[in-house]
This record gives sequence, C-alpha cells and structure tokens, in this order.
Amino acid sequence: MIRYKPLAEETARHIRRKLSGLPEVGLITGTGLGAGVPEMSATVDFDYRDLPHFSRSTVAGHPGRLSVGRVADRLVMACKGRFHLYEGYDPLEVTFPIRVMQELGVSRLIVTNAAGGLNPDFAPGDIMQIRDHINLTGANPLCGPNENRWGPRFPDMSRVYDGELGALAQRKATATGVTLRQGVYTGLRGPSLETPAEVRFLKIIGTDAVGFSTVMETIAGVHAGMRVLGLSTITNVNDPDRPAPATLEEIVAVANAAAPRLAAVLEAVIAEI
Ligand code: HPA
Repeated sequence: MIRYKPLAEETARHIRRKLSGLPEVGLITGTGLGAGVPEMSATVDFDYRDLPHFSRSTVAGHPGRLSVGRVADRLVMACKGRFHLYEGYDPLEVTFPIRVMQELGVSRLIVTNAAGGLNPDFAPGDIMQIRDHINLTGANPLCGPNENRWGPRFPDMSRVYDGELGALAQRKATATGVTLRQGVYTGLRGPSLETPAEVRFLKIIGTDAVGFSTVMETIAGVHAGMRVLGLSTITNVNDPDRPAPATLEEIVAVANAAAPRLAAVLEAVIAEI
C-alpha cells in the first residue's frame, strides 16, 4: 500500500521552496470554473505535470494548474482542475491536493463544482452554497490505515460545511448582487449522467444538486481539520418527468458564464475569511 504522507510532504516542499509565504486558504475549482478564481497578485504558478506525485487532469474544462497568490491580504493556493473518481483515480489520488494543502498549513478550504440542479426552484447559472452533502460514490478517502498525523480515524461529520463561512458567503453574495442558493449536494461516482429514476431517487433523499466531485476533497478537508466552504454552479436542471439530455459542452458553457459571478463572491469572501 502506498503511504501518501511522505509524497505529500515532498510535493509541499517543492511548492514551499518557490514561495515567500505559506497559503492559508485552499481553493479547488470545478469544471469550467477556472475563471471562477478571483484575480490574484504576486502569483507563483505550477503546471500539475511539473509537481512531484501530482496526477494529471484528463477532462475538458480542467486546466491542471496550481497557482499561489494574494487575494486581498490572504495567500491563496488555487488548484485549477481536480481529479475525479470517474477518471480512474482512487480516492487518495483525488484528495492528494488537499493533503498537500494540509502539509503547507492551509486551514480553510473552498471547493467549487459544476452540478446538476434537482431543486425545481433552481435555474441554470445559479450558484448554490453547499449546506451539507450525501456521499453516494461508494468511496471514501479515509479507507485504509489511518494517517494519525493527518487526522482522526472517525472524523465527526455533523458540521462539515462551516456555518460561519457559509454565512459570510451569503452576506458577500448579497453585497455583490449575486443570489446565493443553499442546498444539499450529492456526490456520485459518474461518469454516466443520472437516469430519470435516479433523479427521482436523489430528490426523495434530499438532494438539491448532484455531481461527480467535491465529497472526497471535503471529507479529506474535514479530516485535516479545515473549515470548508462549498459552492456549486448549477449548470442544468434535471426534471425526471421531462428528461432532457445534458452535454459536457453545455455544462462547461454555463459554468464559464457563471464563473465571473462566482469569482466576485469568492474575492469578497476571501478578503474577510
Ligand atoms: N449530473 C452530474 N454532474 C453534473 C451535472 C449533472 O446533471 N451537471 C453538471 N455536473
């Protein structure tokens, strides 16, 4: 079995050598949301290919770059492009960037994603603050021997998404003129999209938005003791009684269009985080 801590330490060392300070805030961006990262100054960029032990992004809409830079007074480490279970990565590979953040001392984690809306009040282009999640991937990044230096064997999950960060995001969205929805995100393994029967099931169990990411990284972030803020961009709304095809092109296009609003909210949030 691979022990990931020494690998994450080595990646963190590689990054730290090029930085003059340590990042406090980590950001993982979703499909088509590379432009959902706020403007950063004094940025140091890394291609995932040049980082030891980092995997590669294989999906359109995920550039595969890591940038560390300043937003207001905060040093932010932004991973533009994430790894998904459906790409064949295992949960420890998917969450490796979070562990590198942990090794660098990141204490607050912002995860964004593109998601399908199931709540009929939602419209494409809406942004949803994730209030809670349901992990239906069948996977968990904490399976296997616990790395006690990273976190506890059985982390509490009663307050996964930080209430204060959520409230801050709501306030800043209002101030920025962005309506921020709230809801439960269900993570599936993918990559096949949901059947109408699955959509019906997901609605019954309390899903407001569904996607193929985020829950692995969030679980690792909680294990790492990070305060987590999750924001979903609703790229399409799934109605089981009127099923309509969703394509990656559409998803990326709607995510791209929503990205500047997401960036505006995140910029305001990070300034006060
Ligand atoms: N299902 C799963 N993931 C998604 C969707 C969807 O409808 N839209 C964007 N990501």
